[in-house]
Amino acid sequence: MKRIVSSIVLLMLAGAGMAATNPPAIVPIPRQVSCNDQQSITLTDDARITLPRSEKDLRGVAELFVRDVAREEGLTLKIVEKPEGEIRLAVDPQLGEEAYLLEISAKGIDIRGGTPAGVFYGLQTLRQLLAQYGTTLPGVQIEDAPWFGYRGAMLDCGRHFFPIDQIKTFIDMLALHKINRFHWHLTEDQGWRLEIRRYPELTRIGSQRAETVLGNNSPAYDGVPYGGYYTQQQAREIVAYAAERFITVVPEIEMPGHASAALAAYPWLGCAGEGYKVQTRWGVFPEVFCAGKDSTFDFMQNVLAEVIDIFPSEYIHVGGDECPKESWKVCPACQKRIQDENLKDEHELQSYFVLRMERWLNEHGRHLIGWDEILEGGISKSATIMSWRGAKGGIAAARAGNKVIMTPNTHCYLDYYQTQHPQGNEPWGIGGYVSVEKAYSLDPYDQLDEAERPYILGVQGNIWTEYMASLAHVQHMVLPRLAALAEVGWSYDRRNIEDFRNRMKIFRRLYERNDYRYAPYFFTTEAE
Ligand code: ACM
Ligand code: ZN
Repeated sequence: MKRIVSSIVLLMLAGAGMAATNPPAIVPIPRQVSCNDQQSITLTDDARITLPRSEKDLRGVAELFVRDVAREEGLTLKIVEKPEGEIRLAVDPQLGEEAYLLEISAKGIDIRGGTPAGVFYGLQTLRQLLAQYGTTLPGVQIEDAPWFGYRGAMLDCGRHFFPIDQIKTFIDMLALHKINRFHWHLTEDQGWRLEIRRYPELTRIGSQRAETVLGNNSPAYDGVPYGGYYTQQQAREIVAYAAERFITVVPEIEMPGHASAALAAYPWLGCAGEGYKVQTRWGVFPEVFCAGKDSTFDFMQNVLAEVIDIFPSEYIHVGGDECPKESWKVCPACQKRIQDENLKDEHELQSYFVLRMERWLNEHGRHLIGWDEILEGGISKSATIMSWRGAKGGIAAARAGNKVIMTPNTHCYLDYYQTQHPQGNEPWGIGGYVSVEKAYSLDPYDQLDEAERPYILGVQGNIWTEYMASLAHVQHMVLPRLAALAEVGWSYDRRNIEDFRNRMKIFRRLYERNDYRYAPYFFTTEAE
């Protein structure tokens, strides 16, 4: 009996397979895909990409594509203005900004984008089609556009430092997933990573730590000095590299907490004024910026003046998370500030700090983002919240009319383990458990009604690197969970985990062809 049932199932599967031969397996899933089995085209080594003469902006995206498919498929395509080649790119302003249309027939491959970003996304989809079918592509018509405008990934370069070539690889990974924000976490207790010309000690002293704790905050240390920082020129190079891939770099300069490295460089920034060091353990430390002294605000504004000169991002992230209030409670300057400004307590003092920085950023044409702790002592209407302690901060902020990026640790913390029983099977994580399925199940609109939903700008995966000292380890933590979050951000309204699982079997070929390490658990039954 069992045998009969299974052969019926097999027959049904075969029937379904014939109706749609090998449908395109695109991640994140496009809005609309229709196949035309009567058509196909074969790209040969002398195939050409045609750019309209008026669209100089498209040359860059075409060049990136040529390099990608040379590496991935061994194709050597040429870029021409005429005669018309097999792959034709154009901007069609009638389409949405990041939207594209991709049409493949025997006559050629047409990609039209609302802007060059849309064309770029169409070409990312074409990379996937080539990885799936090889150089003989079936007739297909794809209409696509993202659901959310903010689709991000954060990399913590404070706990561990990743040289710019590795940052570029990370950005390449984001681009493949149609992610458009790189949140660059640049300052931490364990290292200040960005050159600030006015304050050279920030990197001379603040970028170096004496050693690093072993394991999960064990009593032992490695005894090896560790450090590194990005020069302003390198940071600009990253901004440009990301921009070529339609990714905005959102820099984060942490305040008022996670400040040990800055305080080690300039002790007058702290309440006690002395006794600081770049931390060698992980965690949250009581050494924070003094909110009483005006010199702290002058310093921060001078730092941000250099930051906004390097980073054109509309949004500047000022951290705001995990700021213990002990030093403020015993600091005469901080207590005087509380009195002078009629503040209720140290939480309101933190709000005062953040509001003062927000006012400065707004005067300089930028917007502030902070972690959800900035809600605690009250915030302005114009601040954007990054909800990390679950979604509750984001929900409260959206209800109050603040913009929100959803990055709840329950779904978006890519330093958590990917299997339920990690011991011995997985590389180090910080703890917790976020499977690919869990990340995929994120609903950024959970508990929000129609009127509140527009305040959710998008979603982001966060990669905190206490336990990741190498890019290979980062990749293992990020992939394939980033694909799950990318699909939440791009394809919010049309997700299906089983369909995603099947598409990922094809998509991971691109991880392999680009030598990106990835976690295997989702592709086996181990994690289920
Ligand atoms: C955070 O994870 N402390 C934002
Ligand atoms: Zn103080």
